[in-house]
Order: sequence, then structure tokens, then C-alpha cells
Amino acid sequence: MKFLDVLAGEAISPPPIWLMRQAGRYLPEYRAVRAKAGDFISLCLNPALAEEVTLQPVRKFGFDAAILFSDILILPMALGQGLRFAEGEGPRLPPLEDIGILNPDRAAGVYAPVIETVNRLRGSLPRETALIGFAGGPATVACYMLDGQGGGFCRTRELAYQRPGFVRDVLDILVEATIEYLSAQVQAGADCVMLFESWAGVFPPAQFREFVIEPNRRICAALKVRHKGVRIIGFPRLAGLLLGEYAREAGVDALGLDSVTSIGAARAACPPGMVLQGNLDPLLLKLGGRAMDDAVAQLLDEARGHPHIVNLGHGITPDVPEAHVARLVELVRRG
Ligand code: CP3
Repeated sequence: MKFLDVLAGEAISPPPIWLMRQAGRYLPEYRAVRAKAGDFISLCLNPALAEEVTLQPVRKFGFDAAILFSDILILPMALGQGLRFAEGEGPRLPPLEDIGILNPDRAAGVYAPVIETVNRLRGSLPRETALIGFAGGPATVACYMLDGQGGGFCRTRELAYQRPGFVRDVLDILVEATIEYLSAQVQAGADCVMLFESWAGVFPPAQFREFVIEPNRRICAALKVRHKGVRIIGFPRLAGLLLGEYAREAGVDALGLDSVTSIGAARAACPPGMVLQGNLDPLLLKLGGRAMDDAVAQLLDEARGHPHIVNLGHGITPDVPEAHVARLVELVRRG
């Protein structure tokens, strides 16, 4: 499988491609299934429908990998924190005050349908398409649990200074729960897993080390003991100058890059041979045309001769025309 060969460190031209949020609202067939499911959480917890929306973008564009359809906030919900998605506003949780409401023992029962989706996908995906399982990185999930919504994560950042013990307790629970959750996904047939630390960049260096790198390291180490040879992609978004330290210490096999990090700078900061994934600006996929064509050509040039998986620097937005996605795949396949 081309995707897994690159993840193992091989430089392959043309490189494999998949896109973060490749299943989503820019696809009319996704919107149809989502309407049938009623709401987003019900869709995540319905194995037949989640399987279908995972497959849609692979069928349409022939991506080299499929990513399990679910959400990083299913885990805190499974642990017992309320979760709802406000229409057009994003996720809402009751900001966590007391870790006593979290019950790791019940989590597996709640996320069982997600594991069932992985099981089904293993049977229905084309043999040449890799299946990516995922979870949120503990720091990112804690941001949503403590603030209750996206935005500046002010409460989380204040707590990190004023009640670090509380933040540590939340992270400890998340590390253990994430190991179990990802381990179940690998056992059910995920070829590799990705840790989405989308808000890693809100933490200053000392906290980045303690709240991002160390918990990610514990998860990677445990998964590698349990599942020999399992590959892990880390996505410490907006890590800036701490990217190299993350790459050396977290124990990931590949690094997802955001769009503000240059491929050359990332390569210089990382151990030799580090597999990179990314990092087109999602805005270019909305714009298409000359701007996108030029950026893709430049990315392919920078990636040539190195292990690289083409992706965006963050998720696809709902306003992306499908034709631009098809064009991107065509350009990448030409090499
Ligand atoms: O195709 C895929 O990439 C797989 C599925 C996936 C989703 N969310 C589906 C989704 C994955 C891997 C995620 C990860 C996720 N979820 C992250 C990390 C990556 C990132 O984007 O930074 C985060 C922070 C979340 C939390 C989350 N989920 C937010 C903030 C939102 C609202 C924003 C929005 O786009 O509406 C979601 C909702 C969500 N997750 C949607 C999808 C397809 C849209 C829901 C809908 O259909 O209404």
C-alpha cells in the first residue's frame, strides 16, 4: 500500500494524498446522509452511516487513505461529559469543574459503535486504501472539556497556570482513555492512527512540553508496546519552533504540518528521514485556479525525494467546490 510504504519512511513519487475532513459538508452526498442521521453525533454513532460517509470521498476522488468518520469529542462524551453541536456554531460541553463526573469504565461501551465502524470499513475499503483511526491529542481535547467550546481557550490557559494539578489530572485520564480507544481502533483494523493536537499552539513552551509532548509520548509508547509496528501520525498544529522537539520526543512516525510551517524548516528541525504530511493552505482549495496550481507544484517540488503524504494544513471547509478537490488529486497524480 503506497500510503503505508511512505508512512514507513519510503520516498514515493507521485506521493499519496488524503485530506483532513475529506468526509464533510462540501459533499452533497454527505449532507444527504447527515440529514438522514438527524444530527452529527447520531451520525458518528451509527456504524452503517458513518461507514458510508467515510467511503464517499474515497469513491469520488480515489484518495490513498480513508479516515474513520467520527469526532475527537466523542471520547469526552464517552467519559461522561455532555456534548452537543450547536447548529452553525460548533461543539458545546458543560465546562468541566470536577473530574469525578468522568468514568473511564463506561467509555468503551459508549464508543463501541465507532469501533464497529472501523470493523466494517476494514471489510469494505479497497485493498489499496489505508484506513486511518484517530483521537484528539489530550491537550486539545482538554481545551474543549475545560472551556466547553472552541475559541481562545482562555479558561484552559488560566487553569494551566493557576491549577496545573487539575489540568494534569484531566490529562492523565485522557491519556489512559486515549490509549484504550486507539488500541481498540487498531485491533478492529485501523492501519495507523493520527493524534489531532489541533490546539497545541496555545501553550507556551514549558506547558507545551508538559501538556502536549509528554502525554503524546505516553500514548505512542503504550500503543507501540501493544501493537508492534503500528504507525502514528502526530499533528501538533502551530507548534512553531517546538516542532523539532515534538518530532524527536513524542514518538510519532510522521508529522502533520500546518500551513504556516515551511516544509524546508520542518525538515531542518526534525530527525533525518521524518515522514511529513501536509500542508496546503485550505483557503487555496476553496480558491482553486492558478493560485492552487502553483502552490501544488511548489509543494510537490519541496517534497520530491523525501517521504511525504500530501494533505492540507488543516481541515477542508464546507465552501470548497468539488471540482477543486478533483483538480488537486489530478495534479498530485501527475507528480
Ligand atoms: O473526514 C475526516 O477528517 C474525519 C472526521 C473528523 C471530523 N472531525 C468530522 C467532523 C475528524 C478527524 C475530526 C477531528 C476534529 N474535530 C478536530 C481536530 C481537527 C481540526 O479540525 O482541528 C477538532 C478540533 C474537532 C472538533 C469539532 N468537530 C469542531 C470544532 C467542529 C465544528 C466545526 C465545523 O466544521 O462545524 C466539529 C464538527 C465536525 N467534525 C464536522 C465534521 C464533518 C461538521 C459537522 C456537521 O456535519 O455539521
